[in-house]
Amino acid sequence: MKNYLLKGLEGVEERIAAHLRSDVALIHQVSGHLLSGGGKRIRPLLVILSARLCGYDRPELLDLASAVEFIHTASLLHDDVVDGSCLRRGRASANVIWGNEASVLVGDFLFARSFTLLVRFGNPRIMEILSGATEVMAKGEVLQLANIRSPSPDLGHYLHVVRCKTAGLMAAACRCGAVLGNADPEREAALEGFGLEIGMAFQFIDDLLDYVGEQDEFGKTPGSDLAEGKLTLPLLLALQSAPAAERESILEIVSRKRKTAAAFRKVVAFLERYDGIGQTRNEARQRLEKAKRQLGLFPDGTARNDLLELADFLMERRR
Ligand code: IPE
Ligand code: IPE
Ligand code: MG
Ligand code: MG
Repeated sequence: MKNYLLKGLEGVEERIAAHLRSDVALIHQVSGHLLSGGGKRIRPLLVILSARLCGYDRPELLDLASAVEFIHTASLLHDDVVDGSCLRRGRASANVIWGNEASVLVGDFLFARSFTLLVRFGNPRIMEILSGATEVMAKGEVLQLANIRSPSPDLGHYLHVVRCKTAGLMAAACRCGAVLGNADPEREAALEGFGLEIGMAFQFIDDLLDYVGEQDEFGKTPGSDLAEGKLTLPLLLALQSAPAAERESILEIVSRKRKTAAAFRKVVAFLERYDGIGQTRNEARQRLEKAKRQLGLFPDGTARNDLLELADFLMERRR
């Protein structure tokens, strides 16, 4: 990430570490492993920049930013158990090192800790926004699970899942900034819209990197979505462009419980043939452009520029 974006995060790591304290060694080990493991801190950055854009920049902002990162981190602990993932942020995932039980329970602890911080923060609207987003995020993960290895491609379902599991928390992070700065309803909605669109693009790029990313950069194991039977945007768009006969043979692979290396290569060749990656890039780009247009309401300045730069970074990211 660009240096001046990282500058926006000054003080966040220290707050995260301070709020993570627990007298239970296992909690410390598991959450510390994940939280010191090089996350991009995009959600805290969204909270901070959105608040600054609306004229709020008090030190408590860092507490709220850490609470939002805890919600995200808790979701990753649970997500890696559900997805059976082995690599996260370039390291062995917590479920591999400490087991599923510890990951689930420490994830619960982090959710609870984030809500303790939110209650302490004491703003009922912020509590409402972030508890709502957490509920929607959990709903998104459940909806996705219910559709795993589905033989029928459904773009509408995919978009709904992405909105729930990923975009909702980013939208909420931005909206909190607007609420703290007492922005009028139009500006609050614009910032929420910004977060929602970059959240959609963010997941599209994540799903694309799952096919074409380099494990060393991405920090996760590419190919996981297909292995798990998740029909994500690159494949959904390629399927829309392919003739029916080819479509059936690819969907048959997706629905298999175990996929061979040859089956994986077949899907990748199919993606290349029907430009699933290029089409996904286009969709992400359009979302990011739409996001940037939302910021037209706000005056020029550092916070606005940083949010625009963040949107551009999301298009280029490789991790
Ligand atoms: C990963 O989010 C989960 C998704 C929504 C795809 P990030 O890519 O922001 O994860 P970290 O925090 O940087 O590891
Ligand atoms: C996003 O979905 C997970 C959450 C929003 C919790 P993924 O399953 O694609 O995320 P990664 O790829 O494991 O980070
Ligand atoms: Mg996952
Ligand atoms: Mg993913």
